[in-house]
Amino acid sequence: MSQPPLSIVILAAGQGTRMRSTRPKVLHPVAGEPMLAHVLRTARSLSPEGIHVIYGHGGEAVRETLDAPDVSWVEQPEQLGTGHAVMQALPHIPDDHRVLVLCGDVPLVRRETLEPLIDAADGALALLTIELDDPSGYGRVLRDADGAVRAVVEDKDAAPEERTVREINTGVLCAAAGRFRGWLDRTDRNNAQGEYYLTDCIALAVAEGTLVCTAAATDPMEVQGVNNRQQLALVERAYQGRMAERLMTEGVTLLDPERLDVRGSLECGHDVVIDVGCVFEGTVVLGDHVTVGPYSVLRDTRLGDGSHIESHSVLEGVDSAGGNAIGPFARMRPGTRLASRAKIGNFVETKNTDVGEGSKINHLSYVGDTDVGRDVNIGAGTITCNYDGANKHRTVIGDGAFIGSDTQLVAPVKVGKGATIGAGSTIVRDTPDDQLTLSRSRQVSLPEWERPKKK
Ligand code: UD1
Ligand code: CA
Repeated sequence: MSQPPLSIVILAAGQGTRMRSTRPKVLHPVAGEPMLAHVLRTARSLSPEGIHVIYGHGGEAVRETLDAPDVSWVEQPEQLGTGHAVMQALPHIPDDHRVLVLCGDVPLVRRETLEPLIDAADGALALLTIELDDPSGYGRVLRDADGAVRAVVEDKDAAPEERTVREINTGVLCAAAGRFRGWLDRTDRNNAQGEYYLTDCIALAVAEGTLVCTAAATDPMEVQGVNNRQQLALVERAYQGRMAERLMTEGVTLLDPERLDVRGSLECGHDVVIDVGCVFEGTVVLGDHVTVGPYSVLRDTRLGDGSHIESHSVLEGVDSAGGNAIGPFARMRPGTRLASRAKIGNFVETKNTDVGEGSKINHLSYVGDTDVGRDVNIGAGTITCNYDGANKHRTVIGDGAFIGSDTQLVAPVKVGKGATIGAGSTIVRDTPDDQLTLSRSRQVSLPEWERPKKK
């Protein structure tokens, strides 16, 4: 039998006052991405017919940040409660659709947990619940003596004995749109908070004889809501913990799984070793046997097999072929491409530069907008002067060239193949192949000279 179509409603209109922020709550990032983006990704993974996000007053920023062709935005100008929020979406959803309600501030909920809940909502109202050691603040699930769900009572409305119930409503539930419409039409605001409670649907369903079933979430962090910065940090750590677990399961060595941050996607080959305190952002791909030293930051970078990054290196937009040695303290900026075995050492900055096979830039240099040939040695303190104050120019260094220490290469300029540049030179014109070029005043010594004496 085919399943009825699924529509997902994501509640995101709350102001999030307890965040004490000018930014709407659901835009606060978890793992570098707005919380709501995580919920949207999970929603999409369920292949629904429609995704409706309820956003509130001042929530334009939410809409602008996360707008997409498959998302319909429904404004709830006044936040009159979770029931009222769902009511705003219902006019856009056909009666026969199943409606799954998610919260924009519960970012870690997983597809594997939602699927059984959706299945259970066939002709029923399905509720995702969990038992908590400390259920305070949450709606409690009230059951009959025989265990059947009777109602959900909000914390603020609960009698003292009801408050002792440890099974709570996670806020995630699923039922047919037509049913929700019927129940929500009958809810009122006669409660402690003067709101239309979505949770009033449970008692109404029970009263009309609709089956209310529950699915249990096993991991409390999965249903952890974010109302303040403390909970945001909890959720962030839980996300990173999951990521670390996944990487280790895939065969990555993490010297300390608690000191890893992945804000995006990290794909690793065989026997990758990641030392402590590293941050991975955007899309990072590490080949086989890559090692990343402590406190390195890698953003949108691909490293070929057998590359080794020493500590405190910052790489963005780097593509390395393999067998590369980088750092410690390297700063590699977008457009840096290393051919195999190229080396970038300490305090070297590169940008928009191709470094040929086996070439070395080992110490204290800035190399930007440059084509470095193969087997080139660039001495300490070499600077490519690529910017004339208005435009950027390229430097080309031929295969096998040797650039002496403390050289300035004033672009546009070309160093010939096999050329040697004497240390301390300022090179403003192209230099020939295989010759020594230097541009510095000759060394002189003055035998008659005397140091000034103090009067
Ligand atoms: C809600 C549930 C409670 C459950 C808890 C789980 C109700 C009445 N209560 O309580 O049983 O234990 O979640 O975290 O549903 N929102 C809107 N518009 C509104 C009001 C809220 O979009 O008018 C959104 C909020 O942004 C939030 C979600 O709905 O994402 C939940 O609202 P919140 O006020 O946090 O509900 P709780 O009181 O925590
Ligand atoms: Ca809440």
